[in-house]
Amino acid sequence: MRTSLAIVLAAGEGTRMRSALPKVLHPVGGLPLIGHVLRALAAAGIDRVAAVIGPDHRAVAEVVARQSPGATVHVQSERRGTAHAVLAARDALAEAADDVIVVFGDTPFVSPATVRLIRDTLAGGASVVVGGMVPANPTGYGRLIIEGNRLVAIREEKDASEAERAITFVNGGIMGLGGATALAILQAIGSDNAQHEFYLTDAVAIANGRGLAVQAVQVSADEVFGVNDRAQLAEAERLFQGRRRREVMANGATLVAPDTVFLSHDTQIGRDVMLEPNVVFGPGVTVDDGVTIRGFSHLEGARIASGAIVGPFARLRPGAVIGENAHIGNFVEIKQADVEQGAKINHLTYIGDARVGAKSNIGAGTITGNYDGVHKHHTDIGRGAFIGSNSVLVAPVAIGDGAYVASGSVITENVEPDALAIARGRQVQKPDWAAKRPKKA
Ligand code: UD1
Ligand code: MG
Repeated sequence: MRTSLAIVLAAGEGTRMRSALPKVLHPVGGLPLIGHVLRALAAAGIDRVAAVIGPDHRAVAEVVARQSPGATVHVQSERRGTAHAVLAARDALAEAADDVIVVFGDTPFVSPATVRLIRDTLAGGASVVVGGMVPANPTGYGRLIIEGNRLVAIREEKDASEAERAITFVNGGIMGLGGATALAILQAIGSDNAQHEFYLTDAVAIANGRGLAVQAVQVSADEVFGVNDRAQLAEAERLFQGRRRREVMANGATLVAPDTVFLSHDTQIGRDVMLEPNVVFGPGVTVDDGVTIRGFSHLEGARIASGAIVGPFARLRPGAVIGENAHIGNFVEIKQADVEQGAKINHLTYIGDARVGAKSNIGAGTITGNYDGVHKHHTDIGRGAFIGSNSVLVAPVAIGDGAYVASGSVITENVEPDALAIARGRQVQKPDWAAKRPKKA
């Protein structure tokens, strides 16, 4: 088995984002840019990951540690070019690996298949492998100088002649280096260029000069789409959403208006799921087969079992677990609650920190008073219970199986199974009161 090391360059300041957040932490599909890259590396079976981050990027280090616990983190204290950045991970390079793959933290869509292609090309004897592409507009990219069949050099836009700028095959930014020669090649790179930077791309000319094999492989332009500003971030989101929507539809869900449905990187949608227009998924949602999510619903951290109907205008927050065939209707918010199978919560309700037993019916305007200003408390509603409209269930409180709560009640004590609880002012009637009232002139 060949061993591999991936170096993720993420020390860029991302000044064009105009943000307090490091560029690689901006999310696409709810996952930071660098998270997408780390995920692809894991899926490609890379053995070791080294991330190169900027000096004030503790938050980036935290994301790396969370997502790739085995990764090492290296700080590039001065931003002096991509080769300089790779050498910031010198400690990681010193530990031998057959393949060294360099990827950029702001290029989220690099695929495991491309990472494997680069590795296979290194295994085939190349010392340097470049992922090239033909973008719609090559401006800004390093141009691949090909002579015959050989990649002889990469010329950065700022150093290129007019003739070289006409080249449309460019450096996508992913590079493979054979482990045996990587360090020697990197150390030979100088900064004699328009930007006085140490260009990783100079590895190509140096390897050629040493008689080593250099190869370009072609990758799709969408895959190496890089994010440098907010417009590109939005474009990355568009590309990501398009891909996820197609996946979800390919798996057997109906999206009535796909362009209006927003998925997260981890949204799981089963078969014969109907997603009506304008549904937004935050992270951590699982939707089983045969569920309908009606328009204008917002879901995050929720599990929805088969046959359930959610929305329109429903909000499911983290910890919402919706059972089989349960109904969650309009203007209903559910947080950290188990709604068991067949329960119905159809209108204008807040259920938080609660269980709603199977087949219970929660009337319009029911509120679980779960928060006393300091602590959250639990409400337990049994099976087959009936909560009349406009009731407040002041937690901690339990409603027994089959119990009824009269409309407009403020329930502060447990209700026995099968009992009726009425907790509101008794109605008073004054006969003829209105008739005897002085009339307006
Ligand atoms: C780079 C390539 C170019 C390629 C393009 C693809 C070089 C010299 N040029 O250009 O050939 O077509 O990517 O998108 O490699 N970084 C650091 N430290 C540094 C400099 C950069 O960590 O000192 C990181 C950045 O955070 C970024 C990546 O390296 O993730 C690329 O740097 P960037 O400045 O965006 O390079 P480009 O000019 O886009
Ligand atoms: Mg760039």
